Amino acid sequence: MRVITTKTEMRDQVRGARGSGAAAVGLVPTMGYLHEGHLSLARRARSECDLVVMSIFVNPTQFGAQEDLESYPRDLERDVAMADQAGVDVVFHPSATEMYAPGHATWVDVEGLTDHLCGASRPGHFRGVTTVVSKLFAVCEPDRAYFGGKDAQQSLVIRRMALDLDQAVEVIVCATVREPDGLAMSSRNARLTSAERAQAPAMYRALLEAEGSIGDGERDPHVIRAAVIGRLADAPSASVDYVEVVSTSDLRPVDRIDGEVLLAAAIRFGATRLIDNLLVSPPD
Ligand code: PAF
Repeated sequence: MRVITTKTEMRDQVRGARGSGAAAVGLVPTMGYLHEGHLSLARRARSECDLVVMSIFVNPTQFGAQEDLESYPRDLERDVAMADQAGVDVVFHPSATEMYAPGHATWVDVEGLTDHLCGASRPGHFRGVTTVVSKLFAVCEPDRAYFGGKDAQQSLVIRRMALDLDQAVEVIVCATVREPDGLAMSSRNARLTSAERAQAPAMYRALLEAEGSIGDGERDPHVIRAAVIGRLADAPSASVDYVEVVSTSDLRPVDRIDGEVLLAAAIRFGATRLIDNLLVSPPD
């Protein structure tokens, strides 16, 4: 497996592989500190593509000024070994100045879908994500790109971007991978204290209970929202950023649960903000 740090070399590698017969190139964009969720994306890419590229880049432009860019967990050596084991052919690990040349002034902004949920609580976040993912698409020229289901809003935003900008890449969203106690895997889980880690599965349990209530006939999103927030009172380190019941097409809050909805939550456990979601369809 190769580790490449420049855009020119990365592009040459992909074009060289295509010249030698690689029909499908898969890209797994990550910010590193890999966990089983990332590895499941890499394995899926391995099973579907001839060349598998994983980018490992903690993208500064998607972090707000008060956010955790500096303390975001990093361990390249460990990541490279794990990526290799999962069948990745190339790790693309550019520096921030390689990725954003001095004078960088062009941004990709998806409107509408980014107004709610994480877009509302992290202004500018999705502009950073869509800009860097566009750049990764331009450099790695993938046929398929793989994203985790935990970041449901991100995946929808990237799909919209690829469609709107005629980026010839299939955006593949894979199921959220969970710890045995239900906590969605995230690089940020490593930053939880042991007390916070013990409380963090409360978020998924609360979402599951809400799904159960919808299954039992509850159709009022306000009742569902209040139940999730109430359930989180059991976790003293939890503070709610948002809990929302939104439409799966435009991510706007629904007035009534009549069809498939996304139950989405962002909760801080101590200083660590975690997100999770469930797609729920009421029974007919
Ligand atoms: O989901 C992530 O890890 C990041 O938002 C991504 C897609 C790698 C862009 O930096």
